[in-house]
Amino acid sequence: MTKMRNKRVYISTIGCQMNVYDSDRMLEMLAISGYEPIDSFWRADLVLVNTCAIREKAVQKANSFVGRICGIKRARPDLILAVTGCVAQQQSDKIAERFDGVDIILGTHALHRLPEYLRQFESAHTRIIDVTMTTDIDHFETERAPGAPADLSSFVTIMRGCDNYCTYCVVPYVRGREMSRIPDRILEEVRGLVRDGAKEVTLLGQNVNSYGKKEGLCSFGQLLEEVNAINGLERIRFVTSHPKDLSDELISAFGRLEKLCNHIHLPVQSGSDRILKRMNRKYTRADYMERVEALRNVCPDIAITTDFIVGFPGETPEDFEQTLELVERVRFDTFFVFEYSDRPEAPATQYSDKIDPVEKNRRLRALFDLKNVITGQTYDRLVGQTGIVLVEGLSKKSRQEDSVTHAGREFSGRTSENRIVNFIHDDDSLPEVKLHGRLVPVRIEKACANSLWGRLVPDPSATVQNKGGNAHAA
Ligand code: 5AD
Ligand code: SF4
Repeated sequence: MTKMRNKRVYISTIGCQMNVYDSDRMLEMLAISGYEPIDSFWRADLVLVNTCAIREKAVQKANSFVGRICGIKRARPDLILAVTGCVAQQQSDKIAERFDGVDIILGTHALHRLPEYLRQFESAHTRIIDVTMTTDIDHFETERAPGAPADLSSFVTIMRGCDNYCTYCVVPYVRGREMSRIPDRILEEVRGLVRDGAKEVTLLGQNVNSYGKKEGLCSFGQLLEEVNAINGLERIRFVTSHPKDLSDELISAFGRLEKLCNHIHLPVQSGSDRILKRMNRKYTRADYMERVEALRNVCPDIAITTDFIVGFPGETPEDFEQTLELVERVRFDTFFVFEYSDRPEAPATQYSDKIDPVEKNRRLRALFDLKNVITGQTYDRLVGQTGIVLVEGLSKKSRQEDSVTHAGREFSGRTSENRIVNFIHDDDSLPEVKLHGRLVPVRIEKACANSLWGRLVPDPSATVQNKGGNAHAA
């Protein structure tokens, strides 16, 4: 008797960590339906495109990939193509009209129904579209399947959606109202991840520091406290925080909770009060600076990272100067810069005073150049210091090398401040498997553009106490 082969799914994930989390949940659900993931869409039975709508470029990327798969489908009509996530939510009609080959379209609140819809499609062969939204997170929670191996550094969604309505942003329209998961479910998920191999968790949400407010659950600070108490967990991170909701209670957690890493991503978007007001950010530059100071009072070596949008409608050269000046003052560890792009439904799309694309790009490059200077100075100062690194595996370079011995291999991991450190060690007998998942002390010898380079501290039996985890003997 010939054994039926497993069906194969290829998934393309565009966008944020929330999409990566959702894609992982979809793969777990599909595994139960007999689909195994593969990394080439040519051999797939099902292609899933989990889309992002945050910026125009991400939408273009999704559309061109979907177009490409539709082309392949002409020769392979049995291939199933599903488009999910934010673009599916917002532009289901457009997708349906433009791409004949798309079989299933699922919005952000319908992902958990994928296996059921697949079965339906396999028997009826008629297109399925579900973009219904709900105001109850229980209706669409995509929980992790128990027992699946966990990533060393895993993500846990604690809330979804956003009520802030920044004028440039599409999120409230594609992800819906803010909704928080109940603490017990979150804690259960974290405990399961730790049991299955995770050492670090990142709590995810569009605005994690307003967690639980609406539903009257515990505060985000209290939730962190409970996560901090989970045995076997070494490090906690969270993204993303809104400066207006960064409470004193949360700031104090950086001083109190030994597993909470020395890093916060706190998107500021602009250094100009006039632009912040037009963006509907609900804080001023002074408010932001005050929060930064409070964070540094509690945790002097905290790494603060941020996002900027350049060329927001009406942004004058003076407004942009204020952004540059804010960077000099705060000295962010690193940051992302995006050129403003119009998004359907976002109010700023209607503003008439758009910035010329060439000027937008000039500002992007100016800010990026400043980032390289500031990050370079910060990283240079770290040379000679010892950082505690959670070892994730071989470095990118060593993974690409076709080397059979361990000698000279470079490992990679992150410090509590979320800085990437590639390092070597002088002990040839120390195999990769012994280092993976360990917190080890690494002496920094060199600063690179986006990472640090160093050497494992030679006495591996030394146990170093450090916030964001204790170093183990390697
Ligand atoms: N144009 C450019 N950047 C945007 N972002 C959000 N919306 C837009 C837009 N319309 C950026 C913000 C946000 C990050 C995730 O994406 O900086 O923090
Ligand atoms: Fe978008 Fe603003 Fe909500 Fe962030 S806080 S997701 S930028 S609306």
